[in-house]
Amino acid sequence: MKTIIEPFRIKSVEPIYFTTKEQRKEILQKADYNSFRIHANDVLIDLLTDSGTSAMSSNQWAGIMQGDESYAGSSSFFKFEESVRSITGMPYIIPTHQGRAAEKIIFTILGGNGKYFISNTLFDTTRANIEFSGAEGIDCLCAEGKKPTVPAPFKGNMDTGLLRKTIEAKGAANIPMVIITITNNSGGGQPVSMQNIKDTRAICDEYNIPLFIDACRFAENAWFIKLREEGYADRSVPEIAREIFSYADGCTMSAKKDAFANIGGFLAMRNLELAMRCRNLLIITEGFTTYGGLAGRDLEAIAIGLQEVMDEHYLQYRIRSIEYLTNKLIDAGVPVMQPAGGHAVYLDAKAFLPNIPVDQYPGQSLVCALYEEGGIRAVEIGSLMFGKYDEQGKLVPAQMELVRLAVPRRVYTQSHIDYVAEVIIDVFNRRSELGGLVITEETPLLRHFTAKLKPV
Ligand code: F0G
Repeated sequence: MKTIIEPFRIKSVEPIYFTTKEQRKEILQKADYNSFRIHANDVLIDLLTDSGTSAMSSNQWAGIMQGDESYAGSSSFFKFEESVRSITGMPYIIPTHQGRAAEKIIFTILGGNGKYFISNTLFDTTRANIEFSGAEGIDCLCAEGKKPTVPAPFKGNMDTGLLRKTIEAKGAANIPMVIITITNNSGGGQPVSMQNIKDTRAICDEYNIPLFIDACRFAENAWFIKLREEGYADRSVPEIAREIFSYADGCTMSAKKDAFANIGGFLAMRNLELAMRCRNLLIITEGFTTYGGLAGRDLEAIAIGLQEVMDEHYLQYRIRSIEYLTNKLIDAGVPVMQPAGGHAVYLDAKAFLPNIPVDQYPGQSLVCALYEEGGIRAVEIGSLMFGKYDEQGKLVPAQMELVRLAVPRRVYTQSHIDYVAEVIIDVFNRRSELGGLVITEETPLLRHFTAKLKPV
């Protein structure tokens, strides 16, 4: 088999910014050891997120020029609606300015005190929107999903036994929705199998609970199903995607991921009454129903990107590029989430830095070291992001201490990725020198975005 190559050539480029290690030490200090506080121009390889950071295609840029900016009934909306409908099969399509705006709308309507939303794993903004409504989010991730370095094909799966128990314990009437996140971002970009989606659907039917999909990375998940699940090798990605959505009553989507758009999102659903309630809230918070907080040109970019992402040459390259970096790290003995996920490489910071206790944020310490060593920006997905305090003010740590290196779509080439591997391995080889961090300032919700820290 020959090398799997980037399935595109480059028409337009932008510079990346070099700094020295001495400069980066100072930048880190000024940024209070929080990678979200570093200026992008001080970053060499930015793996903070794969969200909104994709390179758009020449077709998408051409679509941008054709954006119809009419307030109502824009032709760009109808292209967008048709594109979303062709994939999801859902009749009611509601544009929003990004994924969390879709979440805000649906959870404002269905959430509230005494309600529970059950998921394989809720993403942080999803959980925050649920909690902001007064409701509670509960994760029922399968056991293999909680063991970072033990490989399994579908580590994003819902633990259906636990789902059933949780429904029984909380009462079906108090559960407005079950949500499957594909792929499971907070759990390592791991996929969910078609069988697991079907089984979850069957349980939802039994208790009469709607099933929604958080579909940000639906195409990457579909590709894993094609590769790994029996019976799907000969099915096309659009067919697999349609089958996934056929089991759902609705979905939320951030078009900043698998639609290669720099902004955008949507809600799609089958229930007219719910759609009407969502549209009312949309008009108050986002905009009219045919643009929902987006420009017409953004709707064009999304409509085109959603189809492009299902190209199998692209998906083969995309998933392979993540696996390539993962394998290089495994070969060097670096503890990394296995198998490779769809959009990011996740380092297991607990195993990487066993000398740093969880209340000194080993993940964040590793994030800082990667920046200092090579100008690479990553993000902690551990106790800084998900930690809570008990009544005594003691940290209740997250299940895992991960560091995510999310790879923007179609942006970096193989030599960038080789460089990233070199930097991670250098840090690994001097890991005993790294120390922990303490928080000096934080907010009650989503503290990781703005928290300030300092070395212990
Ligand atoms: N759901 C999942 C699974 C996500 O990964 C994200 C965003 C959202 C919802 C919210 O979408 O950003 O458009 O409002 N994830 C980004 C990330 C931010 O870095 O993983 P949004």
